[in-house]
Amino acid sequence: KNKFLSFFKNNDHMEISDSSVVPKNDPTLLFINSGMAPLKNFFTGVEKPPYKRLCDIQPCIRTIDIDSIGDKHHLTSFQMLGSWSINDYFKEKAISLAFKFLTEGLNIPKEKLYVTVFAGDEELGLPLDTEAYGFWKKVGMPENHIIKCGKEDNFWGPTAETGPCGPCTEIFYDTGEGEEYLPGKEFDTKKRYIEIWNAGVFMQLNKNSDGTFSKLSFTSVDTGAGLERLSMVLNGFSTVYDTDLLNPIKKFIESKIPSDKKLCEKDIRIMTDHLRTASLILSEKVSLSNEGRGYIPRKLIRRCMMIIAKNKIKNFDFSEVIAFVLDNYSDLFPRFSENRDFILSEIRKEQVQFEKILENGLEKLENINNSKKKITAEIAFD
Ligand code: SER
Repeated sequence: KNKFLSFFKNNDHMEISDSSVVPKNDPTLLFINSGMAPLKNFFTGVEKPPYKRLCDIQPCIRTIDIDSIGDKHHLTSFQMLGSWSINDYFKEKAISLAFKFLTEGLNIPKEKLYVTVFAGDEELGLPLDTEAYGFWKKVGMPENHIIKCGKEDNFWGPTAETGPCGPCTEIFYDTGEGEEYLPGKEFDTKKRYIEIWNAGVFMQLNKNSDGTFSKLSFTSVDTGAGLERLSMVLNGFSTVYDTDLLNPIKKFIESKIPSDKKLCEKDIRIMTDHLRTASLILSEKVSLSNEGRGYIPRKLIRRCMMIIAKNKIKNFDFSEVIAFVLDNYSDLFPRFSENRDFILSEIRKEQVQFEKILENGLEKLENINNSKKKITAEIAFD
């Protein structure tokens, strides 16, 4: 984190404070999902930024990834290392800064890096990003490490239905596992090549509420790298769950599973991720509820309770795990200690309440099963 901030500050960026994961005055977003989300008004020109170049580290929540949790690299919350140029430098400097930080600042060998550039799209009225392609070549990226991808992969944003967005260039790390990329072949971003940095959304469009795109009056650059993934790469691990940002939580959960039971790796990862994210949301004093923001931590916690119930583990104390998260990560998330009592009281209430629901539900299921009755839609709904 210090290396990232120092690098950008030495390159004339101003460090700004991060924001709460609960958006302020932005009804379009459930949670802050990227470093640029709290800064949107700077890119549209509605607000004036404190400086033309900024950087920070922003906790983010991505509920969209909930079903990918359990694999090696996805998380529902992470810390995003972000840097921005607002109506200042554009593609060339963004690419040279990103390359320099990774290869000189973090000493990642250039052979391990692959990049994608926007292949163009008729509907968006944007051609192949030959500029980004050319600037990558200029910094020394071999052409067989530069891959052209369509808008599904290389067009970022907006954060919600509307807002600033643009084509982007992303940087991947070669883990060496699985199929090697050869031009014309598949670029395997699930296993072999792991995205470590969206090194530049080249913001030039605004998506309007009717679905159309209009040109922004000036261009900007928005970058974001996941601290957890970057730590994984720098430590030579193959999963983010081995980094010290997550591993102590995983180990603590494992230590609380009775010796005659065993959770599979996927379930332990889900619990590690979900309980960390639930702590982060609750630390903003969001109460658990059946709708809106409060439903997300409830859903995350209940998914963990289901894992424990499915594995027939008795007397698992969720508040003990959450207390461990709060006590061990309050230097990263200061509201962990500020709102400790609130967070623990929410989790305790939830555990009692949901265990009752589960118990009743499982009993009902068993009765249905025993009665051998046809399962009607009504019964299924209930
Ligand atoms: N907003 C972009 C992203 O989230 C770059 O930070 O990928």
